[in-house]
Amino acid sequence: MTESLVKSPVLAVLEGERQAVPPVWLMRQAGRYLPEYQDVRRQAGSFLNLCFNPKLAAEVTLQPIRRFGFDAAILFSDILVVPHALGREVSFNVGEGPSLNPLTDPEAIKSLRTEIDQVALAPVYETIELVKRALPAHVALLGFCGAPWTVATYMIAGHGTLDQAPARLFAYSHPEDFARLLHILIHASVDYLAQQLQAGVDAVQIFDTWAGVLPPDQFERWCVIPTARIVSELRNRVPGAKVIAFPRGANSLLPYYVDQVSPSAISIDWRIDRQFVRSQLQNHLPVQGNLDPLALLAGGTALDRAIDDVLAAFARGPFIFNLGHGILPDTPIPHVEHMLARVRAYKGCIA
Ligand code: CP3
Repeated sequence: MTESLVKSPVLAVLEGERQAVPPVWLMRQAGRYLPEYQDVRRQAGSFLNLCFNPKLAAEVTLQPIRRFGFDAAILFSDILVVPHALGREVSFNVGEGPSLNPLTDPEAIKSLRTEIDQVALAPVYETIELVKRALPAHVALLGFCGAPWTVATYMIAGHGTLDQAPARLFAYSHPEDFARLLHILIHASVDYLAQQLQAGVDAVQIFDTWAGVLPPDQFERWCVIPTARIVSELRNRVPGAKVIAFPRGANSLLPYYVDQVSPSAISIDWRIDRQFVRSQLQNHLPVQGNLDPLALLAGGTALDRAIDDVLAAFARGPFIFNLGHGILPDTPIPHVEHMLARVRAYKGCIA
């Protein structure tokens, strides 16, 4: 069998096939908890320099694969390269998170670029080509973007906030201008994801980190409808495109979201009731998740129990083992090794 015929377990799950041992990767698996990442990060200077340097970005994408042997690599980049490619100022200051020039004036949305600058994003596609060549055939390569709502929360506020109040207030006060911004982000995301797929990613994940702060009608308007449009337009552009959706905090609205968005798999956070997901969703859709990142940080018996609970709930169906949100920077590397060993020792017999 040639290399290219080897099927990746992650892709098999995204096609609805259960794997005897669930494949594993972790959100934010390339990052600050790895000393080899810290080295490259220092070498790169700024975070955006790292994102736009194909050799270094490919290197940090591959680091967690080499160290742990995860079943998927996720492109090293950030959701905020999209506002950057729409002409907004974006920077990342160590210890402070992202900083953008805030969009406070609704008039400013009228003068935003309406198309992403694909030349500015070309290094991202080059990174994908480099990673793809270096990756073993059984390891899937995932691309990603932020969902329009989550990206907009950073564009409006200019930085991360605890409750996304600036974007929520803006959406109430200027719904038409906000809709115009989301419209731009929908098209930017389709262009960006289609290009990632063309460059060689096997599937993409759409991160809606802040989906959970909206009341149901706003969730429908700003999360469900825009993400559904991205998925359907992407599949028009790239037939059969595989999409993992991560509407963090969607909770009881998750079945409705899945019905409207039609993702290939749903990534769930650690707060949701697992039996609800199993009975309402996993009977027709692959699930990804949902170990509490704090259990991974804690280690010990709490970690073992948390891993077993996740496996007991989901490993009998199509399932990708992951965290319920990104790995925390202080997570000890031995805890990650232990988690992998425990998941891979799964024999389908945990009660
Ligand atoms: O390993 C991977 O998952 C791939 C790379 C990746 C990063 N960011 C690298 C990164 C991915 C998939 C993201 C997604 C992302 N970025 C999201 C959605 C997922 C989530 O975690 O909620 C969001 C909301 C962002 C925006 C963002 N980028 C924030 C809020 C921050 C600061 C807080 C933090 O976690 O550091 C970043 C910076 C960032 N993105 C870092 C990394 C490795 C740390 C920056 C550094 O090294 O200095």
